[in-house]
Amino acid sequence: MRTIAIMNYKGGVGKTTTAVNLAAGLSRHDKRILLIDFDPQGNVDVSLKVEAEYTLYDALTGKVAIQRCIINLAKNLDVITSKETLVKAEHYLTMQETTKALLKDLLGGIRGYDYIIVDCPPSLGVLNQNVLAFCSEIFVPTSSDFLGYDALKKMKEIVVKINEKYNHHSKITKVIPTLFDRRNKICRETLMEIKELFSELTSDPIRVNSKLKEAPKYGKSIFSYARSSSGAQDYGLLAKNVIEMETIASAPLIEIVS
Ligand SMILES: Nc1ncnc2c1ncn2[C@@H]1O[C@H](COP(=O)(O)OP(=O)(O)O)[C@@H](O)[C@H]1O
Ligand SMILES: [Mg+2]
Repeated sequence: MRTIAIMNYKGGVGKTTTAVNLAAGLSRHDKRILLIDFDPQGNVDVSLKVEAEYTLYDALTGKVAIQRCIINLAKNLDVITSKETLVKAEHYLTMQETTKALLKDLLGGIRGYDYIIVDCPPSLGVLNQNVLAFCSEIFVPTSSDFLGYDALKKMKEIVVKINEKYNHHSKITKVIPTLFDRRNKICRETLMEIKELFSELTSDPIRVNSKLKEAPKYGKSIFSYARSSSGAQDYGLLAKNVIEMETIASAPLIEIVS
């Protein structure tokens, strides 16, 4: 089972869009997926029109077993959602002795999936510490502009530091340039710079596509909403590419980021 955090401390770079559509894309390749929203302002529930009786917060605080938070959404696609109460979880986690590994303990018993994908909040607080303790891979969506590139460089340094500090072993295994517009010089230059920094870990870019913005309004993934859009093509390709990585991902952990 691969555990992937969709993480960038910067907001608005396409984390939720990537988490939702990558999860949907992988499930269409017969991979069993659990998508977890770990953002207190998370929009996974809205994006996919899920109404959950129990959210992640209820499980984190011991109110219900984690299994009761899992909702089946489509063939091969299950979801655990979050809502604003997860902000309280930040406080709750800080009060616990084993703060950094609570999510790991909670999700450690979950079986039967090929992928667990976690949509992360745009911060580096205790919530994301927990995600890093649980996930072995980090995918970083990054906007294809100068500020996005700058944040990406910082993310690289931050992951190394956090791993050292807490003895985590999560690695950046994919960088996903988002909001890409080929006509825009800055986008083209930024893509080249990202490739220089992350070489083969850089995915093909996800182009700007208004259908990606519209799909959440209808509670659909891009594949259900606009099958022939460039957004569906790009996320479809990303899903294939992620599956192709499976042999590498299952190999013993190597220091990909140095
Ligand atoms: N490739 C894209 N083309 C057009 N709009 C996009 C694209 N990716 C994301 N968006 C839009 O940008 C906004 C921020 O995306 P989101 O995935 O919510 O980012 P984050 O989770 O990093 O804050 C949303 O309105 C989303 O619909
Ligand atoms: Mg988000």
